[in-house]
Order: sequence, then structure tokens, then C-alpha cells
Amino acid sequence: MAVREIRVQGDAVLEKVCKEVKALTPRNLVLIEDMLDTMYEAQGVGLAAPQVGILKRIVVIDVGEGPIILINPEILETSGEQTGDEGCLSVPGLAGQVTRPNYVKVKALDENMEEVIYEGEGLLARAFCHEIDHLDGHLYVEKVEGELHEPVYEEEEDEEE
Ligand code: NI
Repeated sequence: MAVREIRVQGDAVLEKVCKEVKALTPRNLVLIEDMLDTMYEAQGVGLAAPQVGILKRIVVIDVGEGPIILINPEILETSGEQTGDEGCLSVPGLAGQVTRPNYVKVKALDENMEEVIYEGEGLLARAFCHEIDHLDGHLYVEKVEGELHEPVYEEEEDEEE
């Protein structure tokens, strides 16, 4: 297990367009493992390779239904609309309202370089859009309606003693 340093807003690496992954080298496999470790450690629902300083088109997501690994992901289809708070591990301690499609269909390669298709609604659809934006050098803050604010953790408040 290796947790990597998460780059934060202002780091130029977050503004670059990532390169397509041509082959799953041992180095890329280690990167994917480390991205999962880093995402879980930070309690995020998604992480893109540039957030750990690597300009490759790799994303990991887990919205609570198990890990999803996306290599060279492409959005095939979207529909509907959802507006809600979004956050990013590269913009710590803040959230902002973003409108995204409510349904997103994604094509990608998995960790065996085999084509996979995912369909997501709600949070998963939002995560697909957010993470794929990272691969093109975009942060959600560009799309925020209104002001950035402190995130509201409604569910967690009940769990605290
Ligand atoms: Ni992010």
C-alpha cells in the first residue's frame, strides 16, 4: 500500500491534458493501486492520475459500490440534469454547487485493458464527469454556481459523539 501526495489547486499539473495509456505496464498497475489507496485514505469518491502528479488518462472511483477503474475513459452519452454540491480532494475543505447530467454512460478500458461500459446515475454520474474533467486539466471550481463554501456533512454529524 502506498498513499501518494495529492496535488492541490494551483499546482500546474492539474491544468494539463493527460496522455492516453497505451499499455498496462507494471508501473501503471502500481499507479492504479496507489491511486485506490490514496483515494480511500483521503475518503474521496474519486481520484484522477493528475491529482497524484501523473499525466495519464486513469481514473479511480468508488461511490460506495466498490472500486471502478477507468483507463482512457470517454463519455458516450448523457441525459438529465442534477444540481448539487461537489468537492474535490485537490480543493480541500471546500464545496460548491455544480450542475451535471444525471445519467452518464462511459466507455473505458479496465485494469486488463479490456473495454468496459459503465452507466451511472446521481453521484456516480457526477463522479464520472468530475474525474474525466481532471484528465483534460479542468477542476470543478470552473463550473461552480455561486460561492465556494464549507462542505456540509449531514450524515456524519449524527455519528459523532
Ligand atoms: Ni477532483
